[in-house]
Amino acid sequence: MTDKDFYYEYLGLPSRHASAIEMVDAGGIYLYSREGKKYVDLVSGVSVNNVGHKNPFIIEAVQRQAAQYMHLMVYGEFVQSPQVRLARMLAGRLPEGLDVSYFVNSGSEAIEGALKLAKRYTGRPELVAFRNAYHGGTQGALSILGNERLKNAFRPLMPGVRFLDFNDVSQLHQITGKTACVVVESIQAEAGIILPEKGFLQALQQRCKETGSLLILDDIQMGFGRTGRMFSFETFDFQPDILCLAKAMGGGMPIGAFISSREIMRSLTFNPELGHITTFGGHPVSCAAAIANIEFLEANNIIPQVEEKGKRFVEALLHHPEIAEIRQKGLMLGIEMKHPEKADRIMQNLLQNGLIVDRFLFRSTAFRIAPPLTITQPEIEMVTGKVLKSLENL
Ligand SMILES: Cc1ncc(COP(=O)(O)O)c(C=O)c1O
Repeated sequence: MTDKDFYYEYLGLPSRHASAIEMVDAGGIYLYSREGKKYVDLVSGVSVNNVGHKNPFIIEAVQRQAAQYMHLMVYGEFVQSPQVRLARMLAGRLPEGLDVSYFVNSGSEAIEGALKLAKRYTGRPELVAFRNAYHGGTQGALSILGNERLKNAFRPLMPGVRFLDFNDVSQLHQITGKTACVVVESIQAEAGIILPEKGFLQALQQRCKETGSLLILDDIQMGFGRTGRMFSFETFDFQPDILCLAKAMGGGMPIGAFISSREIMRSLTFNPELGHITTFGGHPVSCAAAIANIEFLEANNIIPQVEEKGKRFVEALLHHPEIAEIRQKGLMLGIEMKHPEKADRIMQNLLQNGLIVDRFLFRSTAFRIAPPLTITQPEIEMVTGKVLKSLENL
């Protein structure tokens, strides 16, 4: 018996259709399998490894903090330097109104916390979300997930959720004085990289202002440089009331946060006290990694190069006759196939040629390219060459 046999035997699995390659090592943009095959990671663990695998700067920060202390006490009880330093770093990079961070362990938890905060602050019963949005797998996040197939088997879910179509300004009047919050991604990732139309996010922010509803940005997949700015609302020029972060935040370590103004966040501290608690939220080792992640991105000028790198992928691939469209912002690309039925086959071809790409949850006619932001220009040339070759053999 091998680990692969035990994997099927002992792990609860979300699907039977995983590649189930046994990976034994990683570095930069590469993953290495037990069979000795070298793969290029064009998914970044789904928008996590923005600073590359086995980044020495992150490793050093993790090792240093692990040797000093790990878990001491539930979140918020003791003053822990990694949490305080990280919260101050974030506040220093965010506009006024996004000053206070509540640390959690994952994206779903950031969404759960944000929903609770909005309900508690506004005292309102209704939530608004968008069709084809993905916000996580927990019950609250699932309730605002804009896809029936994934959530129907788990009803009853939270009541009072209204769904709107992304990019449709004519539906924004459905946000009313009863709406506690509106949850939105600036780019709908799992819908296949659907970019916001000009003015949509600004109109949404304006409608939330008029109705006193809180605008929650799910920046879990786009945060930490993916769109060419540290946070995606900077790319698209609007401002949420609550910002949800996770994924790339910890440079490969698990951590998430929801961030708001001091006034809004205070409402979680009282009535009831301890109404929102977490044991591992803001784990010191994860916070140390998150600090190193921001430092690495900034010290190495990674983010300003992201848009140009993404554009290079588009230039190299767009004119291939098998490709219908490429939706791109920064290093987040949705490659739409001309013949939808070939999407699965191209992903298999790419894998055989050592390139790991990924499907989208809600769009089967396209595939995702989202490499570590540290990918170099020569690596992009190598990768696009291999993609073109794989397209030839469809
Ligand atoms: C946009 C978005 N929001 C939330 C989540 C949930 O994050 P997690 O899997 O860390 O709970 C994801 C995960 O893929 C995501 O892509």
